[in-house]
Amino acid sequence: MLQKTCLGLCLLLLAASAEAAAPPVAVSLYMETFCPGCQQLFSKQIYPTWAKLNSTGILAVDIVPYGNAKEKQQGNKWVFTCQHGTKECVGNQIETCAIKLLGRPTLWLPYLHCIEGQLANGSRDIMQVAKDCAENAQPRINFDDISRCSLSDQGNQWQHEMALRTEALNPPHKYVPWVTVNGVHTVNIQYEVENDLLNLVCKTYSGPKPKECTAFDVAASSRCPRNKTDN
Ligand SMILES: *[C@@H]1O[C@H](CO)[C@@H](O)[C@H](O)[C@H]1NC(C)=O
Ligand SMILES: *[C@@H]1O[C@H](CO)[C@@H](O)[C@H](O)[C@H]1NC(C)=O
Ligand SMILES: *[C@@H]1O[C@H](CO)[C@@H](O)[C@H](O)[C@H]1NC(C)=O
Repeated sequence: MLQKTCLGLCLLLLAASAEAAAPPVAVSLYMETFCPGCQQLFSKQIYPTWAKLNSTGILAVDIVPYGNAKEKQQGNKWVFTCQHGTKECVGNQIETCAIKLLGRPTLWLPYLHCIEGQLANGSRDIMQVAKDCAENAQPRINFDDISRCSLSDQGNQWQHEMALRTEALNPPHKYVPWVTVNGVHTVNIQYEVENDLLNLVCKTYSGPKPKECTAFDVAASSRCPRNKTDN
């Protein structure tokens, strides 16, 4: 009897720890701040899906602001050239600093979402946008820290890391936004991220699905049994 209980309990504990061990689905977005497609993917798929799944722990979003930029070394600094001009290099650098300084997605993702949203709405003054978004953030973000970082050697090194990560893509990116899911890029994955990221994350996640993965969950008690005893 005791043995039986232990066996059952142990299996249960084992199953529970296996469940807890399922790694979150890792979605990486390679982007540049002024690319319209990046702004759209961010506001239509990446942010809303993350916001919905944030509390479940099944999705890990990672943003790499660099895109189609180029870099070259001058002395001990990296100098960047960006597709949409200097303002884009400033934007990429600000976003990189926000990611690195704030650390937790719950702090920097809403901030990047705000910046990309304002840019999508036609704002061109990246410093003003980054400042406004910092001041309106909940909790408030200290823009001086971000701004100082963006001009510092540390910020420059962090931006170089983003360049290295982008250049290390395999296959190499052909456009941005470019996404990988658990490190993999295919045309099909790109398509699914662009069209229904929530569905992709939910079906890729190997652990038990949280309720956020069910569009509409009919409670068992409101089903109508064919036979009275069969509910
Ligand atoms: C994300 O989830 C964490 C933990 O549940 C919570 O503290 C945080 O406020 C959430 N962030 C957002 C932006 O919803
Ligand atoms: C962009 O403009 C739309 C329509 O005016 C508005 O609903 C939305 O809140 C704006 N987004 C940002 C980030 O300002
Ligand atoms: C419902 O009950 C009837 C009569 O007992 C039985 O023959 C039938 O197989 C049951 N149907 C289902 C779907 O279980």
